[in-house]
Amino acid sequence: MKTLALLAVVVFTISGICAVDRNKFKTCDQSGFCKRLRAFKPEKSQYELNLDSVLVHGNVLSAEVVTRDPADEKRTVLWQYAFKLSALADSTFRVELDEADPLYPRYRTQLALDGEPRPDSLKLTSNDNSKLTLVNKQGHKVVITAKPLKLEFLDQNGEVAVVLNENSQLLVEPLRVRREKTEEDGDGNQVNVEEEGTWGESFQSHHDSKPRGNEAVSLDVGFPEADHVYGIPEHTDGLALKTTTSGDPYRLYNLDVFEYELDSRMAIYGSVPVMYAHGPKRTVGVFWHNSAETWIDVVNYSDSNVVSSIVNLVTGGQKRRVDARFMSESGIVDVFVMMGSTPDEVFKQYITLTGAKPIPPKFSLGYHQCRWNYVDETDVRTVDENFDEYDIPMDVMWLDIEYTNKKMYFTWDPIKFANPSEMVANLTAKGRKLVVIIDPHIKREAGYFLHEDATELGYYVKDKDGKDYEGWCWPGSSSYLDFFNPAATKYYSERYRFENFPGTSKDVHLWNDMNEPSVFNGPEITMPKDCRHYKPTQDGEEGIASFWEHRHVHNEYGLWNLRSTHDGMMDRVDGKYRPFILTRAVFAGTQRYAAIWTGDNSAEWSFLAASIPMCLSLAIAGNSFCGSDVGGFFKYPEAELMTRWYQAGAYQPFFRAHSHIETKRREPWLYPPTTTALLRDANRRRYALLDYWYTLFYEHSVQGLPVIRPLFQQYPNDPETYTIDDEYLLGNALLIKPVTSAGATSINVYLPGNTLWYDADTYMPHTEARITQPVTISKIPVYQRGGSIIPRKERIRRSSTLMADDPYSLVVALDSNNSAEGTLYIDDGETYEYKNNKFIYAKIEYNSKHMTYTFINDNAHYPTKSWLERVVIAGIKTPPKSAKLQQGDKSTPLQMTLHKGNDVLVLRKPGASMGKPWTITFAY
Ligand SMILES: *[C@@H]1O[C@H](CO)[C@@H](O)[C@H](O)[C@H]1NC(C)=O
Ligand SMILES: *[C@@H]1O[C@H](CO)[C@@H](O)[C@H](O)[C@H]1NC(C)=O
Ligand SMILES: *[C@@H]1O[C@H](CO)[C@@H](O)[C@H](O)[C@H]1NC(C)=O
Repeated sequence: MKTLALLAVVVFTISGICAVDRNKFKTCDQSGFCKRLRAFKPEKSQYELNLDSVLVHGNVLSAEVVTRDPADEKRTVLWQYAFKLSALADSTFRVELDEADPLYPRYRTQLALDGEPRPDSLKLTSNDNSKLTLVNKQGHKVVITAKPLKLEFLDQNGEVAVVLNENSQLLVEPLRVRREKTEEDGDGNQVNVEEEGTWGESFQSHHDSKPRGNEAVSLDVGFPEADHVYGIPEHTDGLALKTTTSGDPYRLYNLDVFEYELDSRMAIYGSVPVMYAHGPKRTVGVFWHNSAETWIDVVNYSDSNVVSSIVNLVTGGQKRRVDARFMSESGIVDVFVMMGSTPDEVFKQYITLTGAKPIPPKFSLGYHQCRWNYVDETDVRTVDENFDEYDIPMDVMWLDIEYTNKKMYFTWDPIKFANPSEMVANLTAKGRKLVVIIDPHIKREAGYFLHEDATELGYYVKDKDGKDYEGWCWPGSSSYLDFFNPAATKYYSERYRFENFPGTSKDVHLWNDMNEPSVFNGPEITMPKDCRHYKPTQDGEEGIASFWEHRHVHNEYGLWNLRSTHDGMMDRVDGKYRPFILTRAVFAGTQRYAAIWTGDNSAEWSFLAASIPMCLSLAIAGNSFCGSDVGGFFKYPEAELMTRWYQAGAYQPFFRAHSHIETKRREPWLYPPTTTALLRDANRRRYALLDYWYTLFYEHSVQGLPVIRPLFQQYPNDPETYTIDDEYLLGNALLIKPVTSAGATSINVYLPGNTLWYDADTYMPHTEARITQPVTISKIPVYQRGGSIIPRKERIRRSSTLMADDPYSLVVALDSNNSAEGTLYIDDGETYEYKNNKFIYAKIEYNSKHMTYTFINDNAHYPTKSWLERVVIAGIKTPPKSAKLQQGDKSTPLQMTLHKGNDVLVLRKPGASMGKPWTITFAY
């Protein structure tokens, strides 16, 4: 949901808002450190590594780095830093630079990593008094130039793939003691001559007290031989990032942006500071491990518009190269360099660091029905029943904030939702679930147990003076739980227990919204940066050293919220059932806990189109479980837009319709019957492919590859694919190009890989790379790659749970060698029994002699009741005369039907159990 709409109307009496209010959000110039750092362009880096201090221990090289005053002949040391280079598993390096002896510890981001990264070996191979050369186990070299400091990361062919500080933009602003520096001005007044903004800066009516002064960090990263860079979601820009030579850098700062605009580098709800660089030679990546506000410049050296002496100096006329510069307001320099060298490998390397998404409960891959708000139990029941009445599959009903008793979370409206347990039981009887919203702001109301407990126990985030911070959000005056405090987290997690949240059951799942956090009256609609968070203190740490500022942790606040919710949901079922959580705020690592949606979009064609690159960017940054509000949150989608949105949503990972409280109701049956039929068809297509989705999410959880993939991931050597972001791959077998424009009668589709692609509706093969696809309103352009096999279920029921035991159809799309392969994952869909080997992970292979179904993991079994109902073989040139199924010692001749028009052979009712391996043998 949501935004400031109501508040804007009520408090500011703004009418007819129709676009983002840019004035509410900072430009780089209005953000003190961004302006300061962007202007920082030394001719030569002041950072030098002291070669005498180098120590290699295990996988870590440590050394002293100093800055020297360039203007000073004696080259006096200005500041000392601790430098660390670590070699990590999976072709990854880590570079850390912190002050050697800071005034008090600088913040280190805490939750992004999925545990301590595993070490690899690191060998110092040469130290020639100006340079160090090191090598890891895989043969990637690191060359460290001491003066000025520069780090080059070489690929296995000995070519520089990533270079740090070549543009001299490494910077760690040292923490200082505050001293008032004043001078007399011409009129005899004492004026503060401290650099403007050091000890405080203002934005509109908000003052940030900056008690630690300036503490920014920055680093430039060069990617030789790269054509494009990707990543750093969440923005509304394309998948391939643009150069920022003119205009502002990309911004990462989790914000609740009302009516966000498209094609923008402005910050929105999520911040994942990982960037990938790709060219025909290789793919590499960097993960900037920092949770503070961050701006990122992108410079393109191959773009002839960029001419500067520095550029020529650095590149020596080299053509292909993209550079980036990361600038963060606080923290340390902590950057992971991922050596690739393919898109698959680099995406996995990022997942190795931040964790894969565990396999979600299967129902969550079905269709979700949401609205702000389903107003009472009768409304919920009516909507639920209408899905059956109109024969549209649906798995989850959602409740937005109005279900609560006056916006007090963990309560129900006593009149409108008087019987929540019965309401939930009515849903679960049909295999359906309920999701309810719980936001991190807590209503400051006397008598509300959560507020009273949090006040008494000191669980709220504090303001700059150490009092409970008060902001304005949905409930009115609100405070915010400080999830950094372990006791507050534990307390919060326990609120999810069934006894503490009556009416809920294992079938009630969660939605954590507004967790940027959104604060309607805060600077940029969020929490002031000088608010205080809990910090476990060591001896002697007091005053400013005894807390973290919100500035340090902002982008990971939502992640701490999600982890608490996740822990609570695990605790309430003793770790037996998989939780489903949806979040709006995103940071590195969020994928371990939650699915994501792209926030408050609009019922406009452009927002439908934007949902594809936005989710692709999130997917390559670890968050495959992504979707947009189907139909658009603001405004009303007319029938055609609604139809196209359902058709697109059916092929996006998180498939949920949602709408704003002030929009016209738009459940599928409220449209003309022809439209309702099209929406039904889109949902049915989703359910037919649910087992393919589920298999992909399983494979993501163990292999780390995105579920939805940009074309360049699968076809990295084809430059045509590098900028395509209006079509994508689902796994490696399906290519999707949703129709995202009004009145379309045909669309152009690029079919990569010099391979056959079969129209998923007609099984007609395409051999050309560029096709013009005619589209009627019922057409969803989806193509299956020749060489792939996809599992389907054709008996669509009311919900996914009811389809668990249904039979499978296998769609075999042959390549030019008449072969194909695919995989299938089956388990109970909701528990962790898969960890005890209660699952099936099967490989399905076809060649003209045999088709086999074998278990990849021999130790794992699951007693599925599902059986093989049909095999569809597309692209068959020489049909066999007979086919025979063998399972165990049972052999059965099979019936076949050949469809001559499109060369499709159908094997009818093979009847094999999917719980055991089988073979089909063909005779000619
Ligand atoms: C860099 O410039 C070249 C040449 O203009 C262009 O082909 C490429 O797409 C640009 N890359 C980026 C990241 O802007
Ligand atoms: C549950 O379903 C029954 C039967 O349709 C209905 O009478 C009852 O009102 C429902 N309860 C709630 C709380 O929706
Ligand atoms: C067909 O087989 C040949 C020989 O094994 C192989 O080189 C080629 O890549 C295969 N083609 C496809 C589309 O898999």
